[in-house]
Amino acid sequence: MQGSIDQKIVKKVKRLRKELHEHNYRYYVLDDPEISDAEYDRMMQELLKIESTYPELLSPDSPSLRVGAPPLEKFETTTHLTPMLSLDNGFNDSDIIEFENRVKKNITTDDLIVYTAEPKLDGVAVELVYENGSLVMASTRGDGISGEVITSNVRTIRSVPLLLNKEKSQKIPIRLDVRGEVFIGKEGFKHLNNERLKQNIPVFANPRNAAAGSLRQLDSSVTAKRPLEIFIYGVGNIEDFAIESHWEALCLLKNFGFKINPLIRPLIHIDEVLNFYRKLNEIREYLSYDIDGAVIKVDNLLYQKILGETSRSPRWAIAYKFKAVQETTRVLDIGVQVGRTGTLTPVAHLEPVNIAGAMVRRATLHNEDEITKKDIRIGDTVLVQRAGDVIPEVVKPIGSRRTGEERIFKMPRDCPVCGSLAVRIKDETAIRCINTTCSAQVKERIKHFASKGAFDIDGMGDKIVDQLVDKGLLKSYADIFCLDEEKLKVLERMGPKSAKNLTNAIEESKKITFNRFLFALGIRHIGEHVAKILANNFKSLEKLKMGTFDDLKSIEGIGPIVAESVINFFKQNENRKVVKHLLDSGIEIIQDTPRKEEHLKGKVFVLTGTLKGMTRNKAKEMIEKAGGKVAGSVSRNTDYLVAGTKPGSKFNRAIDMGVEIITEETFKKLTIDN
Ligand code: IVH
Repeated sequence: MQGSIDQKIVKKVKRLRKELHEHNYRYYVLDDPEISDAEYDRMMQELLKIESTYPELLSPDSPSLRVGAPPLEKFETTTHLTPMLSLDNGFNDSDIIEFENRVKKNITTDDLIVYTAEPKLDGVAVELVYENGSLVMASTRGDGISGEVITSNVRTIRSVPLLLNKEKSQKIPIRLDVRGEVFIGKEGFKHLNNERLKQNIPVFANPRNAAAGSLRQLDSSVTAKRPLEIFIYGVGNIEDFAIESHWEALCLLKNFGFKINPLIRPLIHIDEVLNFYRKLNEIREYLSYDIDGAVIKVDNLLYQKILGETSRSPRWAIAYKFKAVQETTRVLDIGVQVGRTGTLTPVAHLEPVNIAGAMVRRATLHNEDEITKKDIRIGDTVLVQRAGDVIPEVVKPIGSRRTGEERIFKMPRDCPVCGSLAVRIKDETAIRCINTTCSAQVKERIKHFASKGAFDIDGMGDKIVDQLVDKGLLKSYADIFCLDEEKLKVLERMGPKSAKNLTNAIEESKKITFNRFLFALGIRHIGEHVAKILANNFKSLEKLKMGTFDDLKSIEGIGPIVAESVINFFKQNENRKVVKHLLDSGIEIIQDTPRKEEHLKGKVFVLTGTLKGMTRNKAKEMIEKAGGKVAGSVSRNTDYLVAGTKPGSKFNRAIDMGVEIITEETFKKLTIDN
């Protein structure tokens, strides 16, 4: 009975709700918060407190429902007003061209046919029903005809409006059914799984499963703790609105306060659509959420009606899928690899499987703890994934495919190569062979030494190094410079010509810049980037050797771990000897090709999003030092857009204009490079 409640309290509740709605919208839909998280939480707590004292004031659109409602016994089902169809898939350009031909055959018009091109989110499809501007029901797609009612769960998703925004639209539909995809972003997924690992509960195989599992909770307060997000991609039903195109509908939905994917574009030519797909594929790794393709829709709603649908999918839309990055295959065996620093890494030997165009035969299992946590066994059918250039990894076993024949793998206690005891170093997950003369370690150190970013010795491939070590011709990388044609002749498939080429390549590699030299030494934690920082700061090997822990640590970009590693390396007699041996064999550390202060001369950079390892000012300074310029907005003159996390509208503009988008990592390499 609101009548008996003090009007001041009623007013206060109204004000709190209005403000919470607004701040929520700014934070989760516009990505432009106005108040701190603490302030938001304080207001929410205040509202929750009043609502628990006066339950009569509870309302189905109160922002307090974002924290969850009382648990359900089971999910009810509901029939969708219009069926939720699925999409036809295309896998190559000709599938899309065929789609366009089918569209053209059925639509007789002299006008251009407009398409909208959208990212295909990899999550869970949902329908949201609004009556007079309030969210009254949310459901899953189910079998397309009817789905499960998950209203309380969906209300916890912060980017779902509980109330439609009335300000930007003249009117609000009596009933509105919208459809979209609920998903969990990459960061949220990582965080969620890390937490689960800590609590010893099974991890989710991918963000899609995590999103589906989170929506399927009977207790919505569990859902409220999951980092769910939503993008709305269409209207299922709208009353009293005369809308002519899908694009127009999306604009209207945006004004109502829905989160619409900012990459969606209306395009007029199928070539533009194909281009959109390619660009999307290029930038997908930079997006904060997973996508698995592009969705192409005929924009005109009348044309959509004419084209109609099959029982499964509309004829006016198609999904152009990216090549799969996850596949299932079988673990034939588990082997152990010994790395450059002696780390024993378990590796799954797989039944070969094609993932996104590359044949995968091996996948890393990281370490013993990881195998135990994921419970991966020899003989298991497993999910394997490949992302960009990274080493393929085993995600999880498929439990339902177990036959009982699978074998549990035990990590050896000895190095499988040299037989020495392998130890687990305190605070590390890795087991390490501590025999520095172990031939596996020696081989890996030499391969690293000869690799592209280091001495870059052409012709000194893995197989050659293996043989040279096995035949006792190389005991350390310093021995490379004692090799001659005579010695090389004993190797398999090494004719006089190859031997000559290799000795020439070795000779040529002797002139080397300081940073490459440092990287080549294989000091733990000294990658190419750190080597450059050290080289720029110390200028010579002598000075570096004399550097103290504090000298090293005071350098920007050098932390205590790197500092200690450098000190340790040069403290060891064995390492000092090898370095001396190198210098005695004629290695000449040349001045870094006079640091081309102006190597980015004339290049125009634009920055967007949050950079993790530096401030904007620092980034600007680095660009200017290298002769480049920083502009405030993306234009035709922009050479690079540096995209940090949560990039803003400049990101979309860069995509539209075909400007090269680079990550913070690439940016660092570009600016520090000689
Ligand atoms: S339109 C009738 N647009 O893909 C049109 N779907 O198999 C149906 N999806 O279940 C959907 N992103 O969950 C559309 N931009 C997008 C989408 C999208 C992801 C999902 C959706 C649907 C599945 C199609």
